[in-house]
Amino acid sequence: MAYSSKDNPEKKNDLDLLGKSLRLACEKAGLSEGVSIVFGEGPAPCDIMIVGEAPGRDETKHGRPFIGRAGRFFISVLKEVFGRERDDFYITNVVKVWPTIKKQRLKTRKPTKDEVAFFLPFLMEEIRIIEPKAIVAAGKTALSSLAPDEDFKPGGWIKSDHGPAIMPVYHPAYLLRKQRSLKKNTVELKAALRKVRDSLSGQR
Ligand code: URA
Repeated sequence: MAYSSKDNPEKKNDLDLLGKSLRLACEKAGLSEGVSIVFGEGPAPCDIMIVGEAPGRDETKHGRPFIGRAGRFFISVLKEVFGRERDDFYITNVVKVWPTIKKQRLKTRKPTKDEVAFFLPFLMEEIRIIEPKAIVAAGKTALSSLAPDEDFKPGGWIKSDHGPAIMPVYHPAYLLRKQRSLKKNTVELKAALRKVRDSLSGQR
């Protein structure tokens, strides 16, 4: 993992160890045969954590989260709203390997409950290390993993005394699939992200 001046060396070390134990666990469970593991990336600690569902084809090819078409779209909106660069966010997924079905070529499918359950402790440990003030949960899988009792209501804060505030938003691949409502949904995504931005600037 790359280091930057924004990092706390102890936290980076904890992340490295977590990445190693994830690798071992995946090998043992036979989850990483032929596909790469896509771990989170970004500064540690970080005030904002982005949690997606799972890596796709492009993420797997490059071993980095949110770099395919949908991920890049989402990051461009984040950059615009927050006036920050990509590497100012900690970006990760619930599931850390590409869930696929084999057709003529590999296709993306939704992760199973078992896959989510397998990876969830690693996400929880990432959150403990990163100590975000707010988590942007991109899509239903991210929200139901982080807050199983909550309904998915994009743009509505979920706050608790036990962890960072969570802002659910639509999954970027869903937004791009719904081309007819893309404009309206992007306006709503920006409004949700502005709530996160404003709540964090109020905490300074
Ligand atoms: N890219 C990712 O890595 N995860 C998502 O959930 C969407 C795009």
